[in-house]
Amino acid sequence: MDKLKNLLEQNKQWARNLKESDPQFFEKLSRLQTPEFLWIGCSDSRITPANSIGLLPGEMFVHRNIANLIIHTDMNCLSVIQFAVDVLKVKHIIVCGHYDCGGVKAAFENTRFGLIDNWLRHIQDLAHKYEEELNNAKTANERLDKLCEINVIEQVVNVGETTIVQDAWLRGQNLTVHGWIYYITDGIYQDLNVTIESLEDMKSLLLKTLNKRQEIGVGR
Ligand code: CO
Repeated sequence: MDKLKNLLEQNKQWARNLKESDPQFFEKLSRLQTPEFLWIGCSDSRITPANSIGLLPGEMFVHRNIANLIIHTDMNCLSVIQFAVDVLKVKHIIVCGHYDCGGVKAAFENTRFGLIDNWLRHIQDLAHKYEEELNNAKTANERLDKLCEINVIEQVVNVGETTIVQDAWLRGQNLTVHGWIYYITDGIYQDLNVTIESLEDMKSLLLKTLNKRQEIGVGR
C-alpha cells in the first residue's frame, strides 16, 4: 500500500527548515494562536493562501469551500467567522476569489456535476441578478471574469451582513472585510476595493450591489 512516504518526508524537511530559521518556532506556536487574519477562499488546489502572501503557520485562520461562498445558513462557515471574530479577535477578514474558478464556470455554463450543483446555485442567482452587466461583456472569458469578481463582492456583502460582524462593529471592535481576487496566470492578488470596516461602509456597499453600479470591481 502506498503510504505517501514522499509527503511525510517532505513534511519533515519543511519542519526542519522552519526550526533552522527559528529553533523555538513550534514551541511558541503550540502555546498560542493569535492570527490577525481570517481567509475565506476557494478550495482550488492552485491557491496556497498563507504561503502566497508570506504568512507563517499561526498567522492566518482559514476557511475554504468551492467558489468561496458565504451562505447565511452555512453553519460551518458562520462558526469559523464567529470563532475568528469573537474569540481569536482577527482584525481582517479577506474574502478571496480567483479568475478561472471552476465553480463559477460550472454554475454559469449550467454544467451538471451532482450534489455540488445545488451549492453553485447561489452563483447562478448572482448571474441572473447581474444578467445585464454580464451581457455587456465582449467575450465569454470576460463574462466569466466579471462573474468571478461579482461573486467576491457579493460575498463581502454577505460577510458584512452576518450578525457576527455587525455585532463586532456595534461594540466598536476593529474589524475590516476585504475582497480580493487572484490571477492564477501570474500568482498575483488584486484588491477589488470593496473594503468595509463599519456598518456605514456596509450599507453603502450593499446599495452599490443593489444598484449594480459599474464602479465596483476592477475588470482585467
Ligand atoms: Co475556484
